[in-house]
Amino acid sequence: MRIKWSENTRTLEEVFDRRTIMTVLKILNTGKLKELTGVLKSGKESRVYHGVRVDGSEVAVKIFLTTSAVFRSGRIKYLQGDPRFKNVAHDTSSLVDQWATKEFWNLRLASEAGVAVPAPIYVEKNVLIIGFIGKGSVPAPLLRDVSLQAPHSWYKRIVEMLKLLYDKAGLVHGDLSEYNIMIPNGYPVLIDFGQAVTKDHPEAKQFLERDIQNLNHYFRTLGIKTTPYAKIFGES
Ligand SMILES: Nc1ncnc2c1ncn2[C@@H]1O[C@H](COP(=O)(O)OP(=O)(O)OP(=O)(O)O)[C@@H](O)[C@H]1O
Ligand SMILES: [Mg+2]
Repeated sequence: MRIKWSENTRTLEEVFDRRTIMTVLKILNTGKLKELTGVLKSGKESRVYHGVRVDGSEVAVKIFLTTSAVFRSGRIKYLQGDPRFKNVAHDTSSLVDQWATKEFWNLRLASEAGVAVPAPIYVEKNVLIIGFIGKGSVPAPLLRDVSLQAPHSWYKRIVEMLKLLYDKAGLVHGDLSEYNIMIPNGYPVLIDFGQAVTKDHPEAKQFLERDIQNLNHYFRTLGIKTTPYAKIFGES
């Protein structure tokens, strides 16, 4: 297998620690990924790359930074209280690994329930491989970047997705906003599931209410009459 270590990928060495680079190399060497082609988004706590699999399909590779000191304090409440993570890791790198695994499990639950999310493909340590939302290396736009033709029908579709996510997958997204919804041709896709919690998390209801408020706030700026949280999730 030829590993393509492109220009962009060289920056891996400037950004990631040795352990992360070893993980990426292992993923390439074992054929889970053919090549990493370029950075899509570089944030404070993660970097998202475009990649290609052996079968030629496009993927997004989300690599969580293990050096971020704020990571622990900001994320701990989304791990603690989630029954899938009874023992929250003490050291930052294990905690970041749990976070990547959590995003992977959440995506699996969501996709099994039929919610449009990137397909969970593989996770190892702090490296997560998911289906690419977009075409020809170009990611689909975010909700905040598109001007919708019929915003009310998009609003209704997103509300339906959140209900399906809650009722069937048993999940609350927890960081829903116009930044975490992608709009490929014709339908919305929810992304960024690291913080999503199961409905038995003690704060699940608060997170759900906040998600709906964020969504409603955004759609109100588009002139849409939105439905209050209590009406959407009244009987839940
Ligand atoms: N599956 C995907 N396909 C294509 N692009 C993606 C995919 N997942 C994420 N991206 C791109 O990467 C960006 C960041 O992804 P995501 O929201 O999951 O990470 P994040 O943790 O919120 O990062 P940050 O908070 O630093 O923006 C997205 O806004 C999108 O542009
Ligand atoms: Mg995001």
